Amino acid sequence: MSAKSVSIGICGLGTVGSGTFNVLRENAALIAARAGVSVQVTHVGARRDNADCDLSGIRVSRDIFQVADDPQVTILVELIGGTMTARELVERAIRAGKHVVTANKALIAEHGNALFALANAHGVEVRYEAAIAGGVPIVKALREGLAGNRIEWLAGIINGTANFILTEMRDKGRDFADVLVEAQALGYAEADPSFDVEGTDAAHKLVILASLAFGMPLQFESVYTEGITRLEPQDVAYARELGYSIKHLGIAKQNGAGVELRVHPTLIPHRRLLANVDGVKNAILVEGDAVGPTLYYGAGAGSRPTASAVVADLIDLARATAFNDVRGLPSLGIERSELRDLPIVDMENVDTPWYLRMEAEDRPGVLSRVASLFSDQGISIEALIQKAPVYGETLVSVIVLTNRARQGNVDAAVGEIERLDCITGKVVRIRVEELDG
Ligand SMILES: NC(=O)c1ccc[n+]([C@@H]2O[C@H](COP(=O)([O-])OP(=O)(O)OC[C@H]3O[C@@H](n4cnc5c(N)ncnc54)[C@H](OP(=O)(O)O)[C@@H]3O)[C@@H](O)[C@H]2O)c1
Repeated sequence: MSAKSVSIGICGLGTVGSGTFNVLRENAALIAARAGVSVQVTHVGARRDNADCDLSGIRVSRDIFQVADDPQVTILVELIGGTMTARELVERAIRAGKHVVTANKALIAEHGNALFALANAHGVEVRYEAAIAGGVPIVKALREGLAGNRIEWLAGIINGTANFILTEMRDKGRDFADVLVEAQALGYAEADPSFDVEGTDAAHKLVILASLAFGMPLQFESVYTEGITRLEPQDVAYARELGYSIKHLGIAKQNGAGVELRVHPTLIPHRRLLANVDGVKNAILVEGDAVGPTLYYGAGAGSRPTASAVVADLIDLARATAFNDVRGLPSLGIERSELRDLPIVDMENVDTPWYLRMEAEDRPGVLSRVASLFSDQGISIEALIQKAPVYGETLVSVIVLTNRARQGNVDAAVGEIERLDCITGKVVRIRVEELDG
Protein backbone atom coordinates (compact mmCIF):
# COMPACT_ATOMS: atom_id res chain seq x y z
CA MET A 1 0.00 0.00 0.00
CA SER A 2 1.41 3.39 -0.96
CA ALA A 3 1.69 6.26 1.49
CA LYS A 4 -1.20 7.88 -0.37
CA SER A 5 -3.70 5.25 0.74
CA VAL A 6 -5.73 4.92 3.93
CA SER A 7 -6.81 1.47 5.11
CA ILE A 8 -10.33 0.89 6.33
CA GLY A 9 -11.60 -2.01 8.42
CA ILE A 10 -15.36 -2.61 8.35
CA CYS A 11 -16.97 -4.56 11.21
CA GLY A 12 -20.46 -5.84 10.44
CA LEU A 13 -21.54 -6.56 6.88
CA GLY A 14 -25.31 -6.24 7.28
CA THR A 15 -27.55 -3.52 5.82
CA VAL A 16 -25.26 -0.55 6.44
CA GLY A 17 -21.97 -2.46 6.30
CA SER A 18 -22.68 -3.87 2.85
CA GLY A 19 -23.89 -0.48 1.61
CA THR A 20 -20.71 1.18 2.89
CA PHE A 21 -18.51 -1.48 1.35
CA ASN A 22 -20.19 -1.07 -2.04
CA VAL A 23 -20.37 2.74 -2.08
CA LEU A 24 -16.64 2.88 -1.24
CA ARG A 25 -15.94 0.55 -4.11
CA GLU A 26 -18.31 2.06 -6.72
CA ASN A 27 -17.30 5.66 -6.01
CA ALA A 28 -13.64 4.90 -5.31
CA ALA A 29 -12.25 7.37 -7.85
CA LEU A 30 -14.27 10.37 -6.73
CA ILE A 31 -13.79 9.48 -3.07
CA ALA A 32 -10.02 9.40 -3.64
CA ALA A 33 -10.19 12.75 -5.41
CA ARG A 34 -12.15 14.32 -2.56
CA ALA A 35 -10.06 12.75 0.20
CA GLY A 36 -6.81 13.46 -1.61
CA VAL A 37 -5.88 9.88 -0.88
CA SER A 38 -7.10 6.46 -1.92
CA VAL A 39 -9.54 4.97 0.63
CA GLN A 40 -9.32 1.19 0.60
CA VAL A 41 -11.18 -1.46 2.59
CA THR A 42 -8.46 -3.93 3.54
CA HIS A 43 -10.14 -5.92 6.33
CA VAL A 44 -13.75 -6.96 6.97
CA GLY A 45 -14.99 -8.43 10.24
CA ALA A 46 -18.19 -10.42 9.72
CA ARG A 47 -19.66 -13.63 11.07
CA ARG A 48 -20.60 -14.60 7.52
CA ASP A 49 -20.14 -13.33 3.98
CA ASN A 50 -22.74 -11.13 2.35
CA ALA A 51 -23.70 -12.08 -1.21
CA ASP A 52 -23.95 -8.37 -2.11
CA CYS A 53 -20.24 -7.81 -1.42
CA ASP A 54 -17.31 -9.12 -3.43
CA LEU A 55 -14.71 -9.75 -0.76
CA SER A 56 -12.03 -11.14 -3.05
CA GLY A 57 -8.59 -9.82 -2.18
CA ILE A 58 -9.79 -8.54 1.19
CA ARG A 59 -8.83 -10.01 4.54
CA VAL A 60 -11.95 -11.38 6.24
CA SER A 61 -12.10 -12.24 9.96
CA ARG A 62 -14.95 -13.99 11.69
CA ASP A 63 -13.75 -12.40 14.93
CA ILE A 64 -14.30 -8.63 14.59
CA PHE A 65 -11.69 -7.88 17.24
CA GLN A 66 -9.03 -8.93 14.77
CA VAL A 67 -9.91 -5.82 12.77
CA ALA A 68 -9.28 -3.65 15.85
CA ASP A 69 -5.93 -5.43 16.34
CA ASP A 70 -4.85 -5.16 12.69
CA PRO A 71 -1.94 -2.67 12.54
CA GLN A 72 -2.62 -1.99 8.86
CA VAL A 73 -6.12 -0.58 9.56
CA THR A 74 -6.18 3.18 10.19
CA ILE A 75 -9.96 3.69 10.51
CA LEU A 76 -12.34 1.12 11.96
CA VAL A 77 -16.00 1.30 10.91
CA GLU A 78 -18.32 -0.14 13.55
CA LEU A 79 -21.56 -1.34 11.97
CA ILE A 80 -22.53 -4.29 14.15
CA GLY A 81 -25.12 -2.41 16.28
CA GLY A 82 -25.91 -3.00 19.95
CA THR A 83 -23.93 -1.50 22.79
CA MET A 84 -21.97 -4.19 24.64
CA THR A 85 -19.70 -5.73 22.01
CA ALA A 86 -19.73 -2.53 19.96
CA ARG A 87 -18.36 -0.58 22.93
CA GLU A 88 -15.61 -3.12 23.55
CA LEU A 89 -14.71 -3.10 19.88
CA VAL A 90 -14.59 0.69 19.61
CA GLU A 91 -12.53 1.02 22.80
CA ARG A 92 -10.09 -1.57 21.54
CA ALA A 93 -9.72 0.25 18.22
CA ILE A 94 -9.20 3.61 19.97
CA ARG A 95 -6.57 2.11 22.28
CA ALA A 96 -4.84 0.76 19.18
CA GLY A 97 -4.68 4.33 17.82
CA LYS A 98 -7.41 3.97 15.19
CA HIS A 99 -10.09 6.48 14.28
CA VAL A 100 -13.62 5.12 14.45
CA VAL A 101 -16.70 5.75 12.32
CA THR A 102 -20.02 4.41 13.55
CA ALA A 103 -23.73 4.54 12.68
CA ASN A 104 -24.65 3.37 16.15
CA LYS A 105 -26.87 5.91 17.92
CA ALA A 106 -27.41 3.75 20.98
CA LEU A 107 -23.65 3.43 21.46
CA ILE A 108 -23.01 7.17 21.11
CA ALA A 109 -26.05 8.27 23.14
CA GLU A 110 -25.35 5.91 26.04
CA HIS A 111 -21.54 5.67 26.03
CA GLY A 112 -20.41 8.61 23.92
CA ASN A 113 -19.02 10.68 26.81
CA ALA A 114 -16.62 7.89 27.79
CA LEU A 115 -15.72 7.03 24.20
CA PHE A 116 -14.95 10.64 23.25
CA ALA A 117 -12.81 11.04 26.37
CA LEU A 118 -10.90 7.88 25.51
CA ALA A 119 -10.48 9.01 21.90
CA ASN A 120 -9.17 12.39 23.09
CA ALA A 121 -6.66 10.67 25.33
CA HIS A 122 -5.40 8.66 22.37
CA GLY A 123 -5.47 11.50 19.84
CA VAL A 124 -8.02 9.85 17.58
CA GLU A 125 -11.55 10.69 16.40
CA VAL A 126 -14.95 9.01 16.74
CA ARG A 127 -17.35 10.13 14.01
CA TYR A 128 -21.07 9.33 13.87
CA GLU A 129 -22.87 11.26 11.08
CA ALA A 130 -24.87 8.15 10.14
CA ALA A 131 -26.18 7.70 13.68
CA ILE A 132 -28.79 10.44 13.28
CA ALA A 133 -31.25 10.59 10.40
CA GLY A 134 -29.32 8.15 8.19
CA GLY A 135 -28.21 9.93 5.04
CA VAL A 136 -29.22 13.45 6.13
CA PRO A 137 -25.97 15.33 6.89
CA ILE A 138 -27.30 16.96 10.06
CA VAL A 139 -24.09 16.53 12.08
CA LYS A 140 -22.13 18.36 9.42
CA ALA A 141 -24.82 21.04 9.25
CA LEU A 142 -24.61 21.66 13.01
CA ARG A 143 -20.86 21.24 13.25
CA GLU A 144 -19.88 23.27 10.20
CA GLY A 145 -22.67 25.07 8.38
CA LEU A 146 -24.27 26.54 11.50
CA ALA A 147 -21.08 26.93 13.53
CA GLY A 148 -21.52 30.71 13.74
CA ASN A 149 -24.96 30.45 15.33
CA ARG A 150 -26.28 30.09 18.80
CA ILE A 151 -28.78 27.26 18.30
CA GLU A 152 -32.08 28.18 19.92
CA TRP A 153 -33.98 24.97 19.31
CA LEU A 154 -34.33 22.04 16.99
CA ALA A 155 -37.22 19.72 16.26
CA GLY A 156 -36.93 16.58 14.22
CA ILE A 157 -38.80 13.67 12.73
CA ILE A 158 -35.98 11.25 13.44
CA ASN A 159 -37.59 7.84 13.33
CA GLY A 160 -38.84 6.76 9.91
CA THR A 161 -40.90 3.84 11.20
CA ALA A 162 -42.93 6.01 13.55
CA ASN A 163 -43.40 8.59 10.81
CA PHE A 164 -44.58 5.94 8.36
CA ILE A 165 -47.17 4.72 10.88
CA LEU A 166 -48.43 8.25 11.63
CA THR A 167 -48.67 9.10 7.94
CA GLU A 168 -50.78 6.00 7.25
CA MET A 169 -53.00 6.73 10.27
CA ARG A 170 -53.58 10.30 9.03
CA ASP A 171 -54.07 9.59 5.33
CA LYS A 172 -56.02 6.34 5.53
CA GLY A 173 -57.68 6.50 8.95
CA ARG A 174 -56.00 3.24 9.97
CA ASP A 175 -55.21 2.32 13.53
CA PHE A 176 -51.76 1.99 15.06
CA ALA A 177 -51.60 -1.80 15.45
CA ASP A 178 -52.76 -2.43 11.90
CA VAL A 179 -50.13 -0.12 10.34
CA LEU A 180 -47.39 -1.52 12.57
CA VAL A 181 -47.96 -4.99 11.11
CA GLU A 182 -47.57 -3.54 7.60
CA ALA A 183 -44.41 -1.61 8.61
CA GLN A 184 -42.92 -4.90 9.83
CA ALA A 185 -43.88 -6.69 6.62
CA LEU A 186 -42.23 -3.91 4.58
CA GLY A 187 -39.04 -4.26 6.63
CA TYR A 188 -39.32 -0.76 8.11
CA ALA A 189 -39.90 -1.87 11.68
CA GLU A 190 -37.74 -4.34 13.57
CA ALA A 191 -39.24 -7.68 14.64
CA ASP A 192 -39.18 -6.04 18.09
CA PRO A 193 -40.37 -2.56 17.10
CA SER A 194 -40.43 -1.11 20.61
CA PHE A 195 -37.31 1.04 20.06
CA ASP A 196 -39.08 2.75 17.17
CA VAL A 197 -42.62 3.10 18.48
CA GLU A 198 -41.82 3.74 22.16
CA GLY A 199 -39.45 6.55 21.20
CA THR A 200 -36.13 5.14 22.45
CA ASP A 201 -34.48 5.35 19.03
CA ALA A 202 -35.59 8.97 18.63
CA ALA A 203 -34.37 9.74 22.16
CA HIS A 204 -30.93 8.33 21.30
CA LYS A 205 -30.73 10.61 18.28
CA LEU A 206 -32.15 13.65 20.06
CA VAL A 207 -29.61 13.51 22.83
CA ILE A 208 -26.77 13.51 20.30
CA LEU A 209 -28.31 16.44 18.43
CA ALA A 210 -28.77 18.40 21.65
CA SER A 211 -25.18 17.82 22.69
CA LEU A 212 -23.95 19.03 19.34
CA ALA A 213 -26.28 22.01 19.26
CA PHE A 214 -25.73 23.22 22.82
CA GLY A 215 -22.24 21.90 23.59
CA MET A 216 -23.44 19.87 26.56
CA PRO A 217 -22.48 16.34 27.64
CA LEU A 218 -24.67 13.51 26.36
CA GLN A 219 -27.38 12.70 28.88
CA PHE A 220 -29.67 10.06 27.49
CA GLU A 221 -31.27 9.38 30.87
CA SER A 222 -32.64 12.95 30.96
CA VAL A 223 -34.78 12.73 27.82
CA TYR A 224 -38.52 12.66 28.37
CA THR A 225 -39.70 9.90 26.05
CA GLU A 226 -43.26 9.12 24.98
CA GLY A 227 -44.04 6.84 22.04
CA ILE A 228 -46.93 6.65 19.58
CA THR A 229 -48.48 3.39 20.77
CA ARG A 230 -51.44 5.02 22.51
CA LEU A 231 -52.44 7.34 19.67
CA GLU A 232 -55.99 6.82 18.53
CA PRO A 233 -57.21 7.31 14.94
CA GLN A 234 -59.92 9.73 16.08
CA ASP A 235 -57.30 12.13 17.50
CA VAL A 236 -55.32 11.96 14.27
CA ALA A 237 -58.57 12.77 12.41
CA TYR A 238 -59.66 15.58 14.76
CA ALA A 239 -56.18 17.12 14.59
CA ARG A 240 -56.42 17.08 10.82
CA GLU A 241 -59.84 18.80 10.91
CA LEU A 242 -58.28 21.51 13.08
CA GLY A 243 -55.44 22.09 10.60
CA TYR A 244 -52.73 20.00 12.26
CA SER A 245 -50.72 16.85 11.59
CA ILE A 246 -49.58 14.65 14.46
CA LYS A 247 -45.86 13.94 14.17
CA HIS A 248 -43.53 12.12 16.54
CA LEU A 249 -40.97 14.82 17.27
CA GLY A 250 -37.70 14.99 19.10
CA ILE A 251 -37.40 18.52 20.50
CA ALA A 252 -34.40 20.19 22.12
CA LYS A 253 -34.84 23.78 23.19
CA GLN A 254 -32.55 26.08 25.10
CA ASN A 255 -34.09 28.82 27.20
CA GLY A 256 -33.28 30.78 30.33
CA ALA A 257 -34.24 27.87 32.59
CA GLY A 258 -32.06 25.30 30.82
CA VAL A 259 -32.62 22.74 28.09
CA GLU A 260 -35.82 20.92 27.24
CA LEU A 261 -35.17 17.41 25.92
CA ARG A 262 -38.33 15.64 24.87
CA VAL A 263 -39.66 13.06 22.43
CA HIS A 264 -43.43 12.79 22.06
CA PRO A 265 -46.36 12.94 19.62
CA THR A 266 -46.98 16.57 18.71
CA LEU A 267 -49.61 18.48 16.76
CA ILE A 268 -47.98 20.77 14.21
CA PRO A 269 -49.80 23.10 11.82
CA HIS A 270 -50.26 21.76 8.29
CA ARG A 271 -48.61 24.88 6.87
CA ARG A 272 -45.22 23.96 8.39
CA LEU A 273 -42.85 22.05 6.11
CA LEU A 274 -42.25 19.51 8.85
CA ALA A 275 -45.95 18.59 8.83
CA ASN A 276 -45.51 17.46 5.22
CA VAL A 277 -42.57 15.14 5.83
CA ASP A 278 -44.29 11.83 5.25
CA GLY A 279 -43.62 8.10 5.13
CA VAL A 280 -40.19 6.89 6.22
CA LYS A 281 -38.46 10.20 5.51
CA ASN A 282 -36.66 12.15 8.24
CA ALA A 283 -36.32 15.91 8.68
CA ILE A 284 -34.80 18.22 11.26
CA LEU A 285 -35.71 21.87 11.67
CA VAL A 286 -32.97 23.91 13.34
CA GLU A 287 -33.38 27.49 14.51
CA GLY A 288 -30.12 29.44 14.72
CA ASP A 289 -29.99 32.99 16.07
CA ALA A 290 -28.30 34.35 12.95
CA VAL A 291 -29.69 32.15 10.20
CA GLY A 292 -33.24 31.65 11.47
CA PRO A 293 -34.97 28.37 10.62
CA THR A 294 -33.22 25.80 8.39
CA LEU A 295 -34.58 22.40 7.40
CA TYR A 296 -32.69 19.19 6.60
CA TYR A 297 -34.66 16.42 4.88
CA GLY A 298 -33.95 13.03 3.39
CA ALA A 299 -33.72 9.28 3.83
CA GLY A 300 -33.35 8.48 7.52
CA ALA A 301 -32.39 4.85 6.96
CA GLY A 302 -31.54 2.25 4.36
CA SER A 303 -28.38 0.63 3.15
CA ARG A 304 -27.04 3.20 0.70
CA PRO A 305 -28.42 6.40 2.30
CA THR A 306 -26.82 5.46 5.60
CA ALA A 307 -23.63 4.43 3.81
CA SER A 308 -23.56 7.92 2.27
CA ALA A 309 -23.11 9.39 5.75
CA VAL A 310 -20.56 6.77 6.84
CA VAL A 311 -18.48 7.43 3.75
CA ALA A 312 -18.60 11.22 4.30
CA ASP A 313 -17.03 10.68 7.74
CA LEU A 314 -14.47 8.33 6.21
CA ILE A 315 -13.46 10.91 3.63
CA ASP A 316 -12.92 13.57 6.34
CA LEU A 317 -10.84 11.22 8.45
CA ALA A 318 -8.89 9.84 5.50
CA ARG A 319 -8.03 13.36 4.35
CA ALA A 320 -7.05 14.44 7.84
CA THR A 321 -4.93 11.31 8.31
CA ALA A 322 -3.22 11.56 4.95
CA PHE A 323 -2.32 15.20 5.53
CA ASN A 324 -1.60 14.71 9.23
CA ASP A 325 -4.18 17.28 10.26
CA VAL A 326 -6.72 15.54 12.48
CA ARG A 327 -6.92 18.54 14.81
CA GLY A 328 -7.92 20.65 11.83
CA LEU A 329 -11.21 18.74 11.49
CA PRO A 330 -14.22 20.90 12.18
CA SER A 331 -15.66 20.36 15.63
CA LEU A 332 -18.55 21.99 17.38
CA GLY A 333 -19.62 20.18 20.47
CA ILE A 334 -19.24 16.85 21.99
CA GLU A 335 -15.90 15.51 20.92
CA ARG A 336 -13.43 17.93 22.33
CA SER A 337 -14.77 21.43 22.90
CA GLU A 338 -15.45 22.71 26.36
CA LEU A 339 -18.72 21.08 27.38
CA ARG A 340 -21.13 22.92 29.64
CA ASP A 341 -23.41 21.16 32.09
CA LEU A 342 -26.78 22.74 31.41
CA PRO A 343 -29.81 22.09 33.62
CA ILE A 344 -32.58 20.01 32.05
CA VAL A 345 -36.00 21.64 32.34
CA ASP A 346 -38.40 19.52 34.35
CA MET A 347 -41.36 18.43 32.18
CA GLU A 348 -43.76 19.93 34.70
CA ASN A 349 -42.39 23.34 33.74
CA VAL A 350 -42.42 22.81 29.98
CA ASP A 351 -44.95 25.12 28.51
CA THR A 352 -46.71 24.45 25.19
CA PRO A 353 -50.20 24.72 23.79
CA TRP A 354 -52.23 21.52 24.24
CA TYR A 355 -54.78 19.42 22.41
CA LEU A 356 -57.10 17.72 24.88
CA ARG A 357 -59.99 15.38 24.19
CA MET A 358 -62.54 14.15 26.69
CA GLU A 359 -65.71 12.10 26.46
CA ALA A 360 -68.56 14.01 28.08
CA GLU A 361 -72.24 13.49 28.71
CA ASP A 362 -74.36 15.33 26.19
CA ARG A 363 -76.17 17.70 28.55
CA PRO A 364 -76.20 21.42 29.31
CA GLY A 365 -73.56 22.92 31.63
CA VAL A 366 -70.76 20.44 30.87
CA LEU A 367 -68.71 22.79 28.73
CA SER A 368 -68.89 25.64 31.22
CA ARG A 369 -67.76 23.34 34.07
CA VAL A 370 -64.81 22.17 31.99
CA ALA A 371 -63.93 25.72 30.96
CA SER A 372 -63.97 26.96 34.54
CA LEU A 373 -61.54 24.22 35.66
CA PHE A 374 -59.07 25.40 33.01
CA SER A 375 -59.58 28.97 34.09
CA ASP A 376 -58.86 28.00 37.74
CA GLN A 377 -55.38 26.91 36.58
CA GLY A 378 -54.79 30.08 34.56
CA ILE A 379 -55.10 28.17 31.28
CA SER A 380 -56.72 30.08 28.46
CA ILE A 381 -58.65 28.23 25.80
CA GLU A 382 -57.97 28.86 22.14
CA ALA A 383 -60.80 26.67 20.85
CA LEU A 384 -63.40 24.41 22.39
CA ILE A 385 -65.30 22.10 20.09
CA GLN A 386 -68.07 19.68 20.89
CA LYS A 387 -68.58 17.02 18.25
CA ALA A 388 -72.14 16.03 17.39
CA PRO A 389 -73.15 12.86 19.25
CA VAL A 390 -73.08 9.65 17.27
CA TYR A 391 -76.67 8.40 16.80
CA GLY A 392 -77.82 6.47 19.85
CA GLU A 393 -74.79 7.51 21.97
CA THR A 394 -75.05 9.63 25.09
CA LEU A 395 -71.39 10.66 25.11
CA VAL A 396 -69.83 13.33 22.93
CA SER A 397 -66.20 14.14 22.25
CA VAL A 398 -65.13 17.54 23.53
CA ILE A 399 -61.90 18.89 22.09
CA VAL A 400 -60.01 21.74 23.69
CA LEU A 401 -57.06 23.58 22.19
CA THR A 402 -55.33 25.65 24.84
CA ASN A 403 -52.90 28.54 24.58
CA ARG A 404 -49.44 27.94 26.05
CA ALA A 405 -49.74 26.31 29.45
CA ARG A 406 -47.29 24.70 31.88
CA GLN A 407 -47.66 20.93 32.02
CA GLY A 408 -48.06 21.20 35.80
CA ASN A 409 -51.16 23.37 35.40
CA VAL A 410 -52.57 21.12 32.68
CA ASP A 411 -52.04 18.07 34.92
CA ALA A 412 -53.95 19.80 37.72
CA ALA A 413 -56.84 20.87 35.46
CA VAL A 414 -57.08 17.44 33.84
CA GLY A 415 -57.09 15.75 37.26
CA GLU A 416 -60.12 17.85 38.25
CA ILE A 417 -61.88 17.28 34.91
CA GLU A 418 -61.46 13.50 35.17
CA ARG A 419 -63.20 13.65 38.56
CA LEU A 420 -66.33 15.31 37.10
CA ASP A 421 -69.35 12.98 37.04
CA CYS A 422 -70.17 14.14 33.50
CA ILE A 423 -66.78 13.02 32.11
CA THR A 424 -66.01 9.38 31.28
CA GLY A 425 -62.53 7.87 31.21
CA LYS A 426 -59.19 9.63 30.82
CA VAL A 427 -58.57 12.90 29.06
CA VAL A 428 -56.35 12.46 25.98
CA ARG A 429 -53.58 15.05 25.90
CA ILE A 430 -51.12 15.80 23.13
CA ARG A 431 -48.75 18.76 23.02
CA VAL A 432 -48.89 21.30 20.21
CA GLU A 433 -45.85 23.04 18.69
CA GLU A 434 -46.30 25.98 16.38
CA LEU A 435 -42.58 25.72 15.39
CA ASP A 436 -42.40 29.44 14.79
CA GLY A 437 -39.59 30.42 17.10
N1 LIG B 1 -30.34 -0.04 8.81
C1 LIG B 1 -30.38 1.28 8.75
O1 LIG B 1 -31.02 1.84 7.88
C2 LIG B 1 -29.59 2.11 9.74
C3 LIG B 1 -29.66 3.51 9.67
C4 LIG B 1 -28.89 4.28 10.54
C5 LIG B 1 -28.11 3.66 11.48
N2 LIG B 1 -28.09 2.30 11.57
C6 LIG B 1 -27.22 1.68 12.57
O2 LIG B 1 -26.21 0.97 11.90
C7 LIG B 1 -25.82 -0.15 12.68
C8 LIG B 1 -25.94 -1.42 11.82
O3 LIG B 1 -27.29 -1.56 11.43
P1 LIG B 1 -27.73 -2.56 10.27
O4 LIG B 1 -29.13 -2.17 9.92
O5 LIG B 1 -26.71 -2.62 9.22
O6 LIG B 1 -27.78 -3.93 11.08
P2 LIG B 1 -27.73 -5.40 10.47
O7 LIG B 1 -28.26 -5.42 9.08
O8 LIG B 1 -28.34 -6.30 11.49
O9 LIG B 1 -26.18 -5.67 10.38
C9 LIG B 1 -25.37 -5.89 11.49
C10 LIG B 1 -24.34 -6.90 11.06
O10 LIG B 1 -23.38 -7.01 12.11
C11 LIG B 1 -23.12 -8.38 12.29
N3 LIG B 1 -22.66 -8.60 13.66
C12 LIG B 1 -23.30 -8.27 14.80
N4 LIG B 1 -22.56 -8.63 15.86
C13 LIG B 1 -21.43 -9.20 15.37
C14 LIG B 1 -20.29 -9.76 15.95
N5 LIG B 1 -20.13 -9.81 17.28
N6 LIG B 1 -19.35 -10.25 15.14
C15 LIG B 1 -19.47 -10.20 13.79
N7 LIG B 1 -20.54 -9.66 13.17
C16 LIG B 1 -21.51 -9.17 13.96
C17 LIG B 1 -24.41 -9.10 12.00
O11 LIG B 1 -24.12 -10.41 11.66
P3 LIG B 1 -25.24 -11.56 11.82
O12 LIG B 1 -26.28 -11.22 10.82
O13 LIG B 1 -24.49 -12.79 11.52
O14 LIG B 1 -25.72 -11.47 13.23
C18 LIG B 1 -24.93 -8.29 10.83
O15 LIG B 1 -24.45 -8.77 9.61
C19 LIG B 1 -26.71 -0.14 13.91
O16 LIG B 1 -26.04 0.50 14.96
C20 LIG B 1 -27.90 0.69 13.47
O17 LIG B 1 -28.54 1.35 14.55
C21 LIG B 1 -28.81 1.52 10.71
